[in-house]
Amino acid sequence: MTTPWWRNAVVYEIYVRSFADSDGDGEGDLQGIRSRLGHLRDLGVDALWLTPFYTSPLADGGYDVADYRDVDPRFGTLDDFDALVADAHDHGLRVIVDIVPNHTSDRHPWFRQALAAPSGSRERARYIFRPGKPGQGPGEEDPPNDWPSAFGGPAWTRLPDGEWYLHLYATEQPDLNWRNPEVRHEFEEILRFWLDRGVDGFRIDVAAGLVKDESFGDLAGRSRRAANGPIYSRPEVHEIYRAWRRILNGYEGERMAIGEVWTDGPEDLALYLRPDELHQVFQFDLQLAPWSAAAFQDVAKAAIKAVEPTGAAPTWVLSSHDSVRHLTRYEQPEGIPGVELARARAALLLLLALPGSAYLYQGEELGLPEVVDLPDDARQDPIWKRSDGGQIGRDGCRVPLPWSGKAEPYGFSPKGVRPWLPMPAEWASLTVEAQEGDPASTLSFYREALALRRRLLAEGLPEDLEWLDSPETALFFRRGPLTCALNCGDNPVRLPAGRPLLTTIPLYGDLLPGNAATWLTTP
Ligand code: NOJ
Repeated sequence: MTTPWWRNAVVYEIYVRSFADSDGDGEGDLQGIRSRLGHLRDLGVDALWLTPFYTSPLADGGYDVADYRDVDPRFGTLDDFDALVADAHDHGLRVIVDIVPNHTSDRHPWFRQALAAPSGSRERARYIFRPGKPGQGPGEEDPPNDWPSAFGGPAWTRLPDGEWYLHLYATEQPDLNWRNPEVRHEFEEILRFWLDRGVDGFRIDVAAGLVKDESFGDLAGRSRRAANGPIYSRPEVHEIYRAWRRILNGYEGERMAIGEVWTDGPEDLALYLRPDELHQVFQFDLQLAPWSAAAFQDVAKAAIKAVEPTGAAPTWVLSSHDSVRHLTRYEQPEGIPGVELARARAALLLLLALPGSAYLYQGEELGLPEVVDLPDDARQDPIWKRSDGGQIGRDGCRVPLPWSGKAEPYGFSPKGVRPWLPMPAEWASLTVEAQEGDPASTLSFYREALALRRRLLAEGLPEDLEWLDSPETALFFRRGPLTCALNCGDNPVRLPAGRPLLTTIPLYGDLLPGNAATWLTTP
């Protein structure tokens, strides 16, 4: 049996709004991606994951979908989508699209109908409407329970007629009622719609949260672990993925699904990976780990162990559209200036040497930092808005990509156009154009590492990994002919045996400098 493509895939996350703007409206679009497929092929990734490009008022960057079967005009048309998939496939790239089943936009026709319909109606039964609870003062009312929105504030909003609706995220993202067969049927049809158009897989948003406990009890008084109970990873959620798996299996080609599953425990994670459920789940452990060999080793061991009983391959992530870019996370404000780039490159060698698949986030191949000083009035993340600026939000990792030129919009948009988020003046040296011909650039390093990984996999890399003894600040492991050595300390360490294949900074003889990594080969 051949290995399914996703098991070892390097998947590149495209935040569609910020990748490439072809029509000059300051926002990325599908034609923009199509025009840049050469960059992705040359980079050497296997697949693209496109964040939502569906019709949306963009209250949460497109994770608030108003029409699941169409492209938002600012991102293009269905014809553009078909052309993109066809071209991507011609470039040898698979295409994964995001599916957002936990909630719709408040502009979705279903929610509009629900607002216009009375309590207890079929229209309201597609969402989660509940009566409130008596409040403290006379005539006052509290929400049905104490569940918080992940973006701050309560997860309930009261309508003028007195009913409350649930939204685990922004007010504009009402949660669907997955106990309603009509909702299940609708999403199965949506999956078929995109599978028929040739997508290779789905990334499932909030995959653990679809089915809520019907008692809608308060979280207060529960232990942290039990607090997930009424909302996440309820047993009923698995029936949904079994049905989805049957649909995926019914299509030609290897179609897959990866769930965005945040869980407290490996047992819970493994349930999603049963053979009749999802092919993969995101394992966010590396993304959450500090710059420390011991921490990396612990999370890598745990992540591998978590999927072991399931037979699924682990997945690895350093950055995404939801988190501070890892380059910036690895800064050492009081320490060595510029060390973050050395660390980010070293982290790539760790990521790509681990068994399983790696999810890259656009711009990390250019060594982009988080943009920390966006003007307040430019910020758009609902987290920023709902917290009245108390929480900085995720806009800093969503700044458009710099392609070429010396100033904004750096080839992201046509000249003279202002991108939807301002781009830093210091990015002239980080453009694809500036890095392309420079063998010492981060882009060249990413290309080299990805090409070498591809070659090593083609020659045969075992999925099993053997940890080797290492000094305290370092981690060493071996997969057949490949040994990966990462030194998170500031001082050099002696390398394990092997001939260097790729190194993030020059070695001193058999010494690996601090904040560096090397791949070695042993016959
Ligand atoms: C996870 C997505 O990655 C994030 O961007 C979004 O805000 C939430 N889910 C809600 O859809």
